[in-house]
Amino acid sequence: MEPKTLSVQDFYEKVWGEYADPQHHPITAEGLSVQTRVVARRIREAKPRRVLDLGCGPEPVVRVGSAPLMVAADLVFDMLLHIKETRGGAATCLDARTLPFRDGCFDFLWCGLLIDHIQSPGEWIQELFRVLSPGATMGMACWRRANLPADRYPEDSRMCYTTAVGEELSVESFPTWEAALRILVEKDAGMELESFTIVPDDYVLQIAWIRIPP
Ligand SMILES: C[S@@+](CC[C@H](N)C(=O)[O-])C[C@H]1O[C@@H](n2cnc3c(N)ncnc32)[C@H](O)[C@@H]1O
Repeated sequence: MEPKTLSVQDFYEKVWGEYADPQHHPITAEGLSVQTRVVARRIREAKPRRVLDLGCGPEPVVRVGSAPLMVAADLVFDMLLHIKETRGGAATCLDARTLPFRDGCFDFLWCGLLIDHIQSPGEWIQELFRVLSPGATMGMACWRRANLPADRYPEDSRMCYTTAVGEELSVESFPTWEAALRILVEKDAGMELESFTIVPDDYVLQIAWIRIPP
């Protein structure tokens, strides 16, 4: 049966409650655990004061209390309410493509597995740069597309997903990582890349780190 196609917002409104559940989505859960460890290490090194976890999903990987201000931000309002109730901290419902923040107000930005939902990363990454202060650290994560099972990522424009109750869904997902890297490295020629194999031959988590020039 053809999967039901949803907008990005409708998709995550439907699945956020099960997204990080290790029973249903062990790969996602393991990816989140790796992100949590890697981001915590960068925060310890950079000692930021104002952190944004953009496209945070139901389990923000940045811990409340790891910096004086940590803002979890996402499209999905009910999910953010749940985050507020269970973890506390600041939460903002927004569209990442137009950030409701003033220039230069964050000194650490984490963006996990959001880039493939952004069809044109050029303008969007400039918007990310806008809210970062001089010397800020920015990290981004994305699955390595070439390794992903082709039936789950057909036509290089969609991701297929099976819900916990067996419903087949499809949502826009684009191969925008390489284009994003070209923009990031222009900002910081010292860009660092890390990669973590979550499922051998299939799911490899790629992470890029840059520092905004001081
Ligand atoms: C694949 S999940 C990633 C969640 C978590 N960061 C992780 O790494 O597992 C993508 C998240 O980005 C959010 N998202 C997608 N497009 C967005 C947009 N334009 N603005 C804000 N959030 C967005 C979704 O609602 C979802 O929670």
